[in-house]
Amino acid sequence: MEKIEELLTQVFQGQALIQASLSHTRSNEPEGYKKVTIKPIELKGERIYQFSYFYEKKVAHENLLPGQATEKTFELFQQKFKQGIINTLEADYQILISKKFKVSILKKKPTKQKIDLSHNRKKHYILEEGKPVPFLIELGVMNAEGKVLAKKYDKFRQINRFLEIIQDVVPYLSKNGPIRIVDFGCGKSYLTFALHYYLKELQGLEVKIIGLDLKKDVIQHCQSLVQKFGFNDLHFMVGDIADYNELDQVNMVVTLHACDTATDAALEKAVRWGAEVILSVPCCQHELHRQIEQVQLEPMLRHGIIRERFSALATDSIRAQLLDIMGYKTQILEFIDMEHTAKNLLLRAIKTSANDQEHLVKEYLMFKQFLKVEPYLEKALHDRLIPLFEKKD
Ligand SMILES: C[S@@+](CC[C@H](N)C(=O)[O-])C[C@H]1O[C@@H](n2cnc3c(N)ncnc32)[C@H](O)[C@@H]1O
Repeated sequence: MEKIEELLTQVFQGQALIQASLSHTRSNEPEGYKKVTIKPIELKGERIYQFSYFYEKKVAHENLLPGQATEKTFELFQQKFKQGIINTLEADYQILISKKFKVSILKKKPTKQKIDLSHNRKKHYILEEGKPVPFLIELGVMNAEGKVLAKKYDKFRQINRFLEIIQDVVPYLSKNGPIRIVDFGCGKSYLTFALHYYLKELQGLEVKIIGLDLKKDVIQHCQSLVQKFGFNDLHFMVGDIADYNELDQVNMVVTLHACDTATDAALEKAVRWGAEVILSVPCCQHELHRQIEQVQLEPMLRHGIIRERFSALATDSIRAQLLDIMGYKTQILEFIDMEHTAKNLLLRAIKTSANDQEHLVKEYLMFKQFLKVEPYLEKALHDRLIPLFEKKD
């Protein structure tokens, strides 16, 4: 069933769904619904998913946010339906589940291409073109009339995609007091300002946000904008992630495109804080590139480009697995389309209490032994991991 969960996450959270239909119920109870269809709709400028439940003589509707829609559809497959068709722009997927819960997913050419994507995409943006937003004007993404500058359109899309991801994780953040967020490696801080704007201005939530970066001049500029806007709940600091020790409690850690093991340093902090949500877009994963060694993989590893990509994917898989071992449910999603950047994988980890830790540890140890690697994150979390590794032996 894991394959279905992965597909649903991509489809709903990657905003790829055109329509879906679930049918062929497991049991034949006369009262229940026999089919469910799902389609994306716009409500108050937000993309949500409308579920239609087809009973014998009526149709009931339910509207769900992307995260809820993923969970609901998965539950429907687990408990009720044996078949499903999911139409996306890239492909049609046919899902078949046997009596013994064996899953097959058939991927076919897309048959639903006629959706007006530009219109649809434009409409569902959280920040809309034409509506001036102060921080976007100040950072040169839009002009005073709210028109997005042509050369900043990719940035505008990226900010909106990031906010969709934030929108999805807000329910997992506790609201008893200000939501404490640290953005490690914030750089010019387009996304940090966006985060502040979305949570505070659009959602009316109380926040305390810190942006940290090594670059003094960049941080000075961000801090000058904070003063200009008069924010007292957003603060920028110069510093190295690994040395940051100022807070005892943090609800969410964001680290976007922080280079190589700086991402791991951020993940370590997040785990030690027990952050409820971690969002990380890694980049420049050089660490394992130097270490990976496995004769069976030689046909791949001898090609520089393949070695580089494989190392990056192995690094992020290891990060996700270690986060899961540390009590998170981690998903790896596409951040933005490949055509805009190759650095497009996002690790989205939500604190959970229901992990099969023993099994995860076993898988992890086999994987790292196979690749002959000693990842930074494992070393950084050594004190937490060793007792689990020993327990396994
Ligand atoms: C590519 S920029 C990304 C900026 C921003 N997060 C974004 O995604 O638009 C990466 C930033 O991480 C910062 N960085 C890298 N290593 C760091 C470290 N160890 N501590 C703090 N900042 C770091 C760099 O200075 C740089 O500004």
